[in-house]
Amino acid sequence: MSGELSPIDKAKYTAAKQAAALVEDGMRVGLGTGSTAAWLVRHLGERVRDEGLRIKGVPTSTRTAELARDVGIEVITLDEAKTLNLTIDGADEFDGNLNLIKGGGGALLHEKIVAAASEEVVVIADAAKQVGTLGAYPLPIEVIPFGWTTTQMLVEELLVSADVMGRKITLRQNGDTPFRTDEGNHILDLHLVRIGNARQLAMALNQMPGVVENGLFIDLCDKVIIGYGDGRVETRDINEGTVSEDRISFADSDNLFSDL
Ligand code: A5P
Repeated sequence: MSGELSPIDKAKYTAAKQAAALVEDGMRVGLGTGSTAAWLVRHLGERVRDEGLRIKGVPTSTRTAELARDVGIEVITLDEAKTLNLTIDGADEFDGNLNLIKGGGGALLHEKIVAAASEEVVVIADAAKQVGTLGAYPLPIEVIPFGWTTTQMLVEELLVSADVMGRKITLRQNGDTPFRTDEGNHILDLHLVRIGNARQLAMALNQMPGVVENGLFIDLCDKVIIGYGDGRVETRDINEGTVSEDRISFADSDNLFSDL
């Protein structure tokens, strides 16, 4: 059955499975959003079912909350949890310092709040997400709908003096209408090509009225787990400065595949 997954899905499956093994009984766990994080939620659901793992999950989106409940994970709010032991999430890009671009799925605001509430943040990704310099993937910023065109103009002005290569900005769409986040806000995608100083840009963007949050995650990620289509998995720990390798097997009997 696993043979029917594309190499990229196998890579996501692999990274997620390795990360799911980090979760311990009794933990409060931040559950990310996106296709890689969805694999994590399925793996955790399997551990809940097969091993009796007891965890409380704080989802970063309504989509993730729905999936987590479907697979039998107890879902609580961040206000109930207050702090988290571990958050595992995907990313759109990560660099050598484990700084990230996130928000491709539009959940960056809740993802950043959840990450900031966590003792440890682990990113799971396929190798294509790794970059030398952030910015090839459009940087999402969440803006409130009131006066969003004015906010866009202010961001355009900011970008003139920023260390970036591109300056095009697009309003994210959902079919024929502007995309709405779980908070009812819009997303502007900044096509910057290359971000010379991500830390500075993240701070400048968040100082603009109308910008709620940006998708640059600076100094928030502790570990990245990179999955490959052949089952290899690499873990980089930025705090320890270590890199370790492992291998995940695709069991044909794996229940997760039959759920697809
Ligand atoms: C969701 O808003 C994003 O931050 C996701 O974590 C990111 O887009 C990665 O998604 P995939 O795992 O689907 O690539």
